[in-house]
Amino acid sequence: MRLAVFSDIHSNHIALEACFEEAEKRGADLWVFLGDYVSDCACPHKTMELLYTAQKTHDCRFVKGNREEYLLNHHKNGSDWAYGQTTGSLLYTYENMTAKDLYFIDSLPMTDVIRIDGTDPIRICHGAPYKTRVELKPGNGRVPQVLETVQEPVLLGGHSHTQFTEQVGEKLYVNPGSLGIPTTGIPQAEMAFLEWNGQSWVPELVHVPYDIEAVVREMTEAGLPECTSVWAHCIVKGLRTAHNYAMDCLNLAGKLAGSGSMTNAHLVQAAKQLGILE
Ligand SMILES: [Fe+2]
Repeated sequence: MRLAVFSDIHSNHIALEACFEEAEKRGADLWVFLGDYVSDCACPHKTMELLYTAQKTHDCRFVKGNREEYLLNHHKNGSDWAYGQTTGSLLYTYENMTAKDLYFIDSLPMTDVIRIDGTDPIRICHGAPYKTRVELKPGNGRVPQVLETVQEPVLLGGHSHTQFTEQVGEKLYVNPGSLGIPTTGIPQAEMAFLEWNGQSWVPELVHVPYDIEAVVREMTEAGLPECTSVWAHCIVKGLRTAHNYAMDCLNLAGKLAGSGSMTNAHLVQAAKQLGILE
């Protein structure tokens, strides 16, 4: 019994296709998706179409990510997202999703349990089972805290874009990393496989190469660098280097703003200092 685990795709449908090929090649029995399907890269509907195809051809499980929560909140309650600001990235994503896409993400649970006869149950979530925005990283002390809230011996989660596993006593946490926007230095799609060896689940963390420049071209053709302030520039540099330039830029802009509120001018200045913008 083998599971393929995909998380944090962020509209990178080209990387997703490469990972689907990898899962096909290895013959995974169940495909597990941990949220943050869209935003950041272009053409979110293409990612959603790949998910619908996967659903028809394979046993699949899906949970919701925080990006899905943002989009649904905008859909239901409105927001101040605007083109020309970093929020233009989310607005572009929302405007390029269909009613079917929104219905699909709205139908997803925050957490679920995979029960397969003869194997240990596995809990799945985006950040933590009780909240999507919980960032688990190696050694940041949160994995043991979150595992304490989980009954099952294995927890699968994403969100932190950090591919790692952590064993705490009898329990195992597995983060497959980010399929679409990896940030840990290797510019390839990240995913994981889990294999039942007759006694326990054994994780394998995997990198899958894909055509990064095709993703960048599509973002440029979609006009994302013009309508998202510095955001798409951060994403492009991040795709090429697997470094989280978006976070660096936000952190530096925050420092530049000091005690005042961060403006677009602070973000542009930060992006120039970091070599993200010329
Ligand atoms: Fe996330």
